Amino acid sequence: MSRRLSRKQLLIAGGAAGAAAAVGGGIVHESRSGAAPASAGASAQPPTVPFHGVHQAGILTPAQSDLRFAAFDFIGSGKEDLHDLLRAWTRAAATLTAGRSLAPPHEDPAKPPTDTGETAGLAPARLTLTFGLGPTLFEKVGLGSKRPPQLADIPHFPFDELDPDNSYGDLCVQACADDPQVAFHAVRALTRIGFGTVALRWIQSGFLSVPKDGDTKRNLMGFKDGTANPSTTDAAMMKSNVWANTGDGQDWMANGSYLVSRKIEIHIEVWDSSAESEQEGVFGRHKASGAPFGGTKEFDTVHISDIPAMAHIRRANPRQGEVTERERDPRAQFVPIQARLAAKDRLNEYIQHVSSAVWAVLPGVETHDGYLGQTLFET
Ligand code: HEM
Repeated sequence: MSRRLSRKQLLIAGGAAGAAAAVGGGIVHESRSGAAPASAGASAQPPTVPFHGVHQAGILTPAQSDLRFAAFDFIGSGKEDLHDLLRAWTRAAATLTAGRSLAPPHEDPAKPPTDTGETAGLAPARLTLTFGLGPTLFEKVGLGSKRPPQLADIPHFPFDELDPDNSYGDLCVQACADDPQVAFHAVRALTRIGFGTVALRWIQSGFLSVPKDGDTKRNLMGFKDGTANPSTTDAAMMKSNVWANTGDGQDWMANGSYLVSRKIEIHIEVWDSSAESEQEGVFGRHKASGAPFGGTKEFDTVHISDIPAMAHIRRANPRQGEVTERERDPRAQFVPIQARLAAKDRLNEYIQHVSSAVWAVLPGVETHDGYLGQTLFET
């Protein structure tokens, strides 16, 4: 089965009235299967996704339908507090992703329940929990020398209208599941565990439906989205474009990755009033088939001379070398593409970037006595 990375991991409904937002440009969440049969959808997946592994789950995992993405401010007093938090989050994440309650067998009824209880009786729903650290955290906890160079601040792009209260953060958790209540419960539980050490800064919910035929998913502008993404089964591609390697700058990050999160409002009233031919010209692809201009089928080769100069796919990939915005290094991947798009892209008439953040996605927890961030503290 061929799996492909999703560039805009999830389309989000909500935010400002009359707008839709996209969390985009970042995490490399496998999203679709190009020529896969109908059975390749979420229902064909096992009910749980293993928490332990060389890499964190939720990065190349076949995308679930629901997301809660939470960013936190660190309000603890130093690296011991961070260490304790990451150990506690590790234990909780292993339990929750296995579909188990956080409650111990015999709880004291005179105390608040350890588990808030809203997932009792629910399936694990392929819950994944993926953890990252923001640039501002390192100095705060006295680990400034360990900040990876790839975790550089994302520059301000023309027309960005970022809301600082809804941007940035010291830690992040991405909860994905095929049940919104399962994802909600996980973020709620992790927030409770972090009480006094972290405070919720912003949160974003999202959804992304899988077409019945296993076809490419569609974004809220109605277009197939993910056509040009590379395959997650291409290990060499993942190693060179997704996973931090030893020698990249901070060896403790090996097998981790980087994530750029952007909230992008879509002015849907304006979009919905525009002609289909105009909408297709914005992307350089046909709406129904997903075929590039000049072609008839979704995966037909893109001939740059057939694509309008200002169309999104031409600006995103001028076909003058490799295009990679998977996040082994956002400075070399996300930033140059977004700089081109911010300078000129017909899509800009319909969207507004309102939030930005960059994260070092921690290496996976390989053993049952290991913990998130172990290499940061112990190497
Ligand atoms: C609301 C925001 C956005 C929407 C609705 C959107 C939508 C699309 C669609 C429909 C395609 C064509 C299908 C495909 O190849 O997946 C596409 C392609 C692409 N987009 Fe976006 N996009 C958005 C933002 C971004 C951002 C922020 C970036 C990166 C900074 C980006 C980078 C790309 C790239 C690299 C391609 C593939 C071009 C190619 O190789 O043909 N997009 N996008």
